[in-house]
Amino acid sequence: MLKKLLITGAAGGLGRLARENLADFAETLRLTDITALTPVSDAEEVMCGDLGDSAFVDRLVEGCDGILHLGGISVENHFDAILNANIVGIHNLYSAAQKHGQPRILFASSNHTIGFHKPSTRLDASSVTRPDSYYGVSKCFGEAVASMYHDKLGQETAIVRIGSCYPQPQDVRMLSTWLSPRDFMALTRQVFRVPVLGCPVIYGVSANKDTWWDNHAVKHLGWEPQDSSETYRAQVEARAAEQGQTPDTLLQYQGGNFALAPLMQKDG
Ligand SMILES: NC(=O)c1ccc[n+]([C@@H]2O[C@H](COP(=O)([O-])OP(=O)(O)OC[C@H]3O[C@@H](n4cnc5c(N)ncnc54)[C@H](O)[C@@H]3O)[C@@H](O)[C@H]2O)c1
Repeated sequence: MLKKLLITGAAGGLGRLARENLADFAETLRLTDITALTPVSDAEEVMCGDLGDSAFVDRLVEGCDGILHLGGISVENHFDAILNANIVGIHNLYSAAQKHGQPRILFASSNHTIGFHKPSTRLDASSVTRPDSYYGVSKCFGEAVASMYHDKLGQETAIVRIGSCYPQPQDVRMLSTWLSPRDFMALTRQVFRVPVLGCPVIYGVSANKDTWWDNHAVKHLGWEPQDSSETYRAQVEARAAEQGQTPDTLLQYQGGNFALAPLMQKDG
C-alpha cells in the first residue's frame, strides 16, 4: 500500500475513475486539478493549481510516494494551449520528483503518439512514434522526458499509451483501441506494486480481438487485461450503421479523426 498517491487531473474522466477505485490503495490520495475539487473523506487531500506553475508542482509532489499523472490537455488544441499543461507541466513534475525522492510515476501517454501508423501495422514498445497532432507531439515529449530521467537519474515511470478508456467502446475504431476502466485500474495497481518497474512503454488496451498493439515486452509486469471489446461488437456495429458512420475514414490511421483533422492554429 502506498502512503500518499498523487493523482493529477483528478477532476477529469480518468481522475474520477481513479479516485473512486484507488481509495484502498494508498493511505492518502492527494488530488489535484486546475478545476476545483472537494475532499470526500479524511483520506483525501486537495491541492488545486496549474501544472505549469513549478513552485506549485514542487509543493504538490512533496511527501508523495506515487504519482498517477493524468492531468493536462487531453485532446487536440493549438500549440500554446498544450505547451503549458503538457510540456512545461511534465517538466515541472519530473523536476519536483527528483527533489522529493523519485516517487514512481504512471504517465498517461496516448495512442496519438503513434496515430499516423496504419491499422495494418502491428506495433510494439519499440515501434517509432508517429504523432498525429500537437497533442500527440506533447505526449511524445512526455515520453522522452520520462525516458531521459530514467536513463540519467534512475526515475521509474510506466509510460502508458492509453487507447480509449471509456465504460464501453463507442465506435468501430474503439473495437481495437478500447481499454476498460477495470483493466486500467488493475494496470495502475500493478505498476505501483511490481518490485522493479524501469521505464517501460505499455499499450493501455484491453484484450480486444482486433488490437493493433503488442504488449509482449511488458509481460513480466504481470498485467493481464480481462475485458474485450468483442462483448460490444454487435452493438457498436449496429449503432455505426444506424448513424451512417464511415469506418473506412475512421480506420484510415490508428489515430482515427485526430490524424485526419487539419492542424489546429491559434487564430482559427
Ligand atoms: N480517456 C482516454 O481514453 C485517454 C486516451 C489517451 C490518453 N488519455 C490521457 O489520460 C489523461 C486523463 O484523460 P481524461 O480522459 O481523464 O482527460 P480529462 O480532460 O477528462 O482530464 C484531464 C484533467 O486535467 C486537468 N488540467 C488541464 N490542464 C491543466 C493544468 N494546466 N493544470 C492542472 N490540471 C489541468 C483538466 O482540468 C482535467 O480535469 C490525459 O492526460 C489524457 O491525455 C486519456
